[in-house]
Amino acid sequence: MRICDGLNLAKEFGNHFAYLLMEFHLKKSREWVFLHLNDELAKKDKFIELLDRYKNGEPLEYITGHCEFMGRDFEVGKGVLIPRFETEILIEKALDIASKFNAPRIAEIGVGSGIISISLALELKNAKIIATDISLDALRYAKINKDKFQANIELIESNYLDKIDGDFDIIISNPPYIAANYPLDKWVLNEPKTALIGGEVGDEMLKEIALIAKSRSKYLICEMGYDQKLSMQNYLDNLGFQSEFYTDLAGLDRGFIAYNKGK
Ligand SMILES: C[S@@+](CC[C@H](N)C(=O)[O-])C[C@H]1O[C@@H](n2cnc3c(N)ncnc32)[C@H](O)[C@@H]1O
Repeated sequence: MRICDGLNLAKEFGNHFAYLLMEFHLKKSREWVFLHLNDELAKKDKFIELLDRYKNGEPLEYITGHCEFMGRDFEVGKGVLIPRFETEILIEKALDIASKFNAPRIAEIGVGSGIISISLALELKNAKIIATDISLDALRYAKINKDKFQANIELIESNYLDKIDGDFDIIISNPPYIAANYPLDKWVLNEPKTALIGGEVGDEMLKEIALIAKSRSKYLICEMGYDQKLSMQNYLDNLGFQSEFYTDLAGLDRGFIAYNKGK
């Protein structure tokens, strides 16, 4: 089997996927693969095994152990949410708000692989960032990535902010926000449920986080589901926040920045 034949086998999942899997298998760059399409495919059984793992629902990022986010290579694996591209918008919004403060105090709820807190820490040298998660697997990956990027963040195992004292300028979160009965594809089903499901309706954790922010933060910045704007807008209004919602690149409602008028 030649390299191009191997690529063809994987192309049912798209060209980009096929090349990523091949690059990972051969430990070579895309340029190298392009220039060697007619070479014999080394360890072809191993490549087919990788493809089968994907066909059986193992996400590509778990197979390769890597995911790119904001141009940086984060380590991921079973037990941690795979970073999603749209979360880059959340970071942009947070950087904008953080620029109002000299040394912003930031808390993240649900750090996962660390993409949010680490990306913020690398841009905001004066920020004091503390991040929690209830998942030890997630915290393990967050620590690996924190060390990899030498990011100045503190990681705490905690339900919400229960184990942390004090107030913050910004609370940020990309919490689980999917409804319990929402149909998920087999790859997403391999990601941790605690990172995906927000409750029966989906917005339960977002509302809990808004309640926490009401007493402990000037700003709350969150990602949310495409169908949660109305309920979150009402909820935030009732708590006395002034909120602004944003959309993702597909034009879907995706998150909000809420200013706590009482703080
Ligand atoms: C959607 S993932 C987001 C991960 C990462 N921040 C990102 O954007 O890729 C939500 C994270 O919240 C964590 N989580 C769920 N319930 C939590 C709770 N009650 N307190 C703290 N973290 C929680 C999950 O373990 C998961 O890592």
